[in-house]
Amino acid sequence: MKTTVSIIKADIGSYTGHQKVHEELKKKAGELLKDEKSKGTLLDYYVASVGDDLDLILTHDKGIDSKDIHGAAWNVFMECTEIAKGLKLYGAGQDILSDAFSGNVKGMGPGCAEMEFEERRSEPIVAFLMDKTEPGAFNLPIFRMFGDPFNTAGLIIDPNMHKGFRFEVYDIKNHKKVMLKTPEELYDLLALIGAKSRYVIKRVYPGPENKVPENEAAAVISTDKLHEIAGEYVGKDDPVALVRGQSGLPAVGEIVEPFAFPHLVSGWMRGSHNGPLMPCSQKNAIPTRFDGPPRVVALGFQLNEGTLVGPMDVFADVAYDRARTKALEVADYMRRHGPFEPHRLGPEDMEYTTLPKVMEKLKDRFESI
Ligand code: F6R
Ligand code: MG
Ligand code: MG
Repeated sequence: MKTTVSIIKADIGSYTGHQKVHEELKKKAGELLKDEKSKGTLLDYYVASVGDDLDLILTHDKGIDSKDIHGAAWNVFMECTEIAKGLKLYGAGQDILSDAFSGNVKGMGPGCAEMEFEERRSEPIVAFLMDKTEPGAFNLPIFRMFGDPFNTAGLIIDPNMHKGFRFEVYDIKNHKKVMLKTPEELYDLLALIGAKSRYVIKRVYPGPENKVPENEAAAVISTDKLHEIAGEYVGKDDPVALVRGQSGLPAVGEIVEPFAFPHLVSGWMRGSHNGPLMPCSQKNAIPTRFDGPPRVVALGFQLNEGTLVGPMDVFADVAYDRARTKALEVADYMRRHGPFEPHRLGPEDMEYTTLPKVMEKLKDRFESI
């Protein structure tokens, strides 16, 4: 049986400021998705939130880019926006950039990561949900899962993985993509994805000799760029990802291991600062400090004929306590730089800035040196 897993997410309002999705919104989302499940549109669903983002984890048999599924998610966001407006939540309807649904949420504000595959005898999946950062935040951990033998022992030990993986990389500024194979093209891959604000990993596929079919994605990341869509800053494009695990793919323990290192990502306050990505439980996914630090939640599920068995709130484990402590130390260190780079992003990566106005005001006072 072919199952599709879709995460469709949007920031449609939060409290206080950009911190948390209101329970009323999650309740409404759950009710609406329950109806969709009873109508047969969905096989199953789980409603999650991280910071100000409402994340709908949906399973179905309709394939990726399904009008029915995207329409159902769109409807949830529209109805929840009404509740958010009623409560005067902050940024109510922020990610709803269009009034009319045209068949697919892409380009309309929400972010989306989907994959369709033949469900294996046992199918573990991990949904990663981030807030206050950008899609490139996934480059380092996804690379480590599928390309780094110091993280993933299976690349050395499991004959299925020994020939590596294929990485589909998007150039998000030029709207082009390239497929790179590891280990053969490891350095080329790193040359691109190290520049994470421009080149982002979109999907990872198994290499040759893997028992998982080569055309079935093992990982997919949302790459929607809100500020490019709207032509102006309308909110960070906080990303989500789906990763399949075990039996020829990285083990779940190898999939979550990269997040034990709280690497620096861009986002945080006003989408304009570098800061550590802190792994945390759903309960603690409330970025209060300087609107951060950026958070990542990992929800593990077993698929059972499209039904979601779970979730396991992976980063609730005490094993990530030290990563959190390190993240807070790094947060303190970065914050002390105030408006100075590299805490503040370089001008080209900032989501919004007064710099052009400052330059305009001072332009006649600049003298040659
Ligand atoms: C939003 C975000 C926040 C806001 C900040 C300023 O996801 O990252 O840090 O950018 O709170 O928000 P405004 O400009 O709406 O006052
Ligand atoms: Mg918000
Ligand atoms: Mg957000």
